[in-house]
Amino acid sequence: MTGKRQVARGTFVVGMRAPEIAAGVRAGQFVNLGWPGGPLLRRPFSVYRAEGEHIEIVLKVVGAGTAQLLAMEPGDRLSCLGPLGRGFDFGNGGRQAVLVSGGLGVAPMLLAARDARAAGMNITWVHGARTAAELCAESDGDTVIWATDDGSQGIQGTAVAAAPDADVIVACGPNRMLAAVAGRWPGAQVAVETYMGCGTGVCLGCAIPLQRGGYDRACKEGPVYRAADVDWPALPSHLPYAVTI
Ligand SMILES: Cc1cc2nc3c(=O)[nH]c(=O)nc-3n(C[C@H](O)[C@H](O)[C@H](O)COP(=O)(O)OP(=O)(O)OC[C@H]3O[C@@H](n4cnc5c(N)ncnc54)[C@H](O)[C@@H]3O)c2cc1C
Ligand code: FES
Repeated sequence: MTGKRQVARGTFVVGMRAPEIAAGVRAGQFVNLGWPGGPLLRRPFSVYRAEGEHIEIVLKVVGAGTAQLLAMEPGDRLSCLGPLGRGFDFGNGGRQAVLVSGGLGVAPMLLAARDARAAGMNITWVHGARTAAELCAESDGDTVIWATDDGSQGIQGTAVAAAPDADVIVACGPNRMLAAVAGRWPGAQVAVETYMGCGTGVCLGCAIPLQRGGYDRACKEGPVYRAADVDWPALPSHLPYAVTI
């Protein structure tokens, strides 16, 4: 680990040196982190920034593993597996990309802005949170339309309601928000969050229910899906059980 800083209430950015990952990562991909004395299973985190030999992740403490990670100090060693999963695809372009994020869904959006720009697109980014204190307001120069549920910063309401239509929509946030994205833009690309085990397609611990029936592995075929392809009612909007493995 190379450093950590607080960016919003309960939300931190953690940096680490990972040259191969920094060089190859695409927006929406994630790393699986392990550390000495950590949980048996690695913990997945979207890559937030990639510059030179370094990457950053956004970290919110929800349990024992994330608490240990936050307690680490610069110089402590992490094992970092990645980049993993299938990221956002800006391949066929279009002229305008709209990025929609809520809460921790900010995590893949700096790279999404970078990758969309590299594909020649204009970007509109709408980022929402419950309240101003929980809004991670880093943007690397992109203009962001802020939205808060209580109106304490930017537009009052959700990021989904505040976002305009566009050729390409990419979104990340709580599953309940992504279900709303699917309702408004069935063709949007959404980065889904779920429990994970191996992170490499082996354990089947990351099943995503599909609209056509059956399941996909979020770590391999995802975590980015076409919004209409996910069976949202079958996917918990809050992950319901507490397991620390
Ligand atoms: C592809 C992907 C990208 C992610 N990106 C980020 C990120 O950028 N920043 C970040 O802070 N977190 C991210 N997460 C979530 C993060 O991996 C979990 O919060 C973490 O694994 C929890 O570990 P823990 O040991 O602290 O909690 P545990 O002790 O395992 O669980 C504590 C509580 O957190 C809940 N929980 C566990 N896993 C998740 C999860 N995946 N999502 C929501 N709640 C969970 C449990 O239900 C339980 O109530 C991502 C997850 C995935 C699958
Ligand atoms: S986390 Fe093991 S198959 Fe996806």
